[in-house]
Amino acid sequence: MSRIPMIAGNWKMHKTVAEAVRLAAALRGALGNLAGREVMIAPPCTALSEVARELTGSSIHLGAQNMYPEDSGAFTGEIAPAMLRSVGCSHVILGHSERRQIFNESDDFIARKVAKALATDLTPVLCVGETLPEREAETAVEVVSRQLRAALKGLTKSEALRIIIAYEPVWAIGTGRTATPDIAQEMHATIRRLLQDLFSDPIAAQVRILYGGSVKPENISALMAETDIDGALVGGASLKAEDFIQIVEYT
Ligand code: 13P
Repeated sequence: MSRIPMIAGNWKMHKTVAEAVRLAAALRGALGNLAGREVMIAPPCTALSEVARELTGSSIHLGAQNMYPEDSGAFTGEIAPAMLRSVGCSHVILGHSERRQIFNESDDFIARKVAKALATDLTPVLCVGETLPEREAETAVEVVSRQLRAALKGLTKSEALRIIIAYEPVWAIGTGRTATPDIAQEMHATIRRLLQDLFSDPIAAQVRILYGGSVKPENISALMAETDIDGALVGGASLKAEDFIQIVEYT
């Protein structure tokens, strides 16, 4: 089963509207008609509309970095899934470790978001990953399995097929300390086995599992050479057009 590699950029809390449009324009010029590779960028929500306009007619997908799992209502500061659809988002990053740690998002809350995104026709990019103390305590597999079981609970097989998973070990995010390809592959294989148990072999074979954590032009090829690594979720290096383009064009 071949899985189309996906390279996604999570811009986090960076870029004004003008800066975001400039970066999107540079990416569009270089990557807008790429075959055999999918590209997604997730600018901050203030820039989504303008970036969507910039990406019109290109094959680059637009994603949001978060959403609230209700249709509308008194949720000051939050953004509903239909609002993301209305500005042209097709994807949404959910359960990022920064949301889990800084904003105390629980497994259950993230599960609600995953279900709601699917119901609104947004593709969830579901992030999972252990912290350094959890890895040192040899509980990484247990933690990632718990996060996944919670987020995927109750999904039908056809819903599971629409999800993209991103394994992001927290100790590798923004630290320059990438997981070795071996460490990443081991966890990706574990995640795929869990998908087999929860759904089926064909579903596990089709779901893409991205790696995230200090991905750079220098390490992308070695990561992508691993059997179960189907792409990357890139933070810091997605903020510079040259770096992100090189990552997408890895050989
Ligand atoms: P860095 O690539 O900056 O380590 O960030 C990874 C990340 O959190 C992507 O979601």
